[in-house]
Amino acid sequence: MSDAAPAGGLFSTSARAATAGCVMEQRGETDMSIAVVVGASGGVGRALVAALAAGGAYETVFALSRAGTSHPDPVRCLPVDVTDEASVAAVAGRVGEAGPVGLVIVASGILHGPGIAPEKALRTLDPAAMATVFSVNALGPALVAKHVLPLMPRKERSVFAALSARVGSIGDNRLGGWYAYRASKAALNQILRTLAIETARTHPGLIVAGLHPGTVQTALSRPFRPDPGPGLFTPEESATHLLRVLDGLQAGDSGRVFAWDGEPIPP
Ligand SMILES: NC(=O)c1ccc[n+]([C@@H]2O[C@H](COP(=O)([O-])OP(=O)(O)OC[C@H]3O[C@@H](n4cnc5c(N)ncnc54)[C@H](OP(=O)(O)O)[C@@H]3O)[C@@H](O)[C@H]2O)c1
Repeated sequence: MSDAAPAGGLFSTSARAATAGCVMEQRGETDMSIAVVVGASGGVGRALVAALAAGGAYETVFALSRAGTSHPDPVRCLPVDVTDEASVAAVAGRVGEAGPVGLVIVASGILHGPGIAPEKALRTLDPAAMATVFSVNALGPALVAKHVLPLMPRKERSVFAALSARVGSIGDNRLGGWYAYRASKAALNQILRTLAIETARTHPGLIVAGLHPGTVQTALSRPFRPDPGPGLFTPEESATHLLRVLDGLQAGDSGRVFAWDGEPIPP
């Protein structure tokens, strides 16, 4: 990955104009496009939306989440459940009406929840919980890609990224445990790699990437890293790092997974 960010960058520009309501628009710019953040109600997702909106590089920032929760102006919020293809297709239709999509970041994901806890040992593996984790973490980003890809330019630089996790690396797995979450993120990484191979032919300007956000102070990590301290990012810090990584990605990086500091993570 190059350290050189493309001129303008993904999330910063000097020009900025906010309109009332939940939409950010910059009239008069001809090269503006749409940014989409899925999982916008989450810790990292919300911070990504805020950073992209403040940066002003996109005509509209779509904040998508299951509950369709509100974001401060000037962001456009729509509901989506990434495990429901009809829901993903419907929201893609709404996004497509706004213009070409230059950036997609899938920041949805689950590690725990009602009836779902990361497994310390195989005997605690629960098929229903595992299926749900796979559905959100692996199938979800795949469905988003399926329905948003037709909205992305074929030749101009654009980015499709999904938040993976270092624990999804098979080569880096030294601790074991967390079967469903690890395997779902490994599956996500494979989906991203496969997408990169296909789109190298169909969308040569598109860069596909997985991202490890670091350990971030969110609802997802809280039961396992409750105390702020060294090595624990705020969502805002993580979002800044991630957008910097995305800015620096080049065509040859497509299909790979990168950590918050830009270091590649082994498959
Ligand atoms: N936090 C960390 O330390 C850490 C470390 C490594 C990787 N990650 C990854 O980073 C991503 C973001 O994590 P986070 O820490 O920000 O977690 P979070 O605060 O728990 O947010 C998770 C997001 O996923 C959304 N989501 C869950 N199920 C969904 C569904 N079926 N359809 C649509 N959205 C759904 C949630 O929205 P709802 O409002 O709809 O529930 C929420 O917006 C995840 O992929 C996670 O695996 C996080």
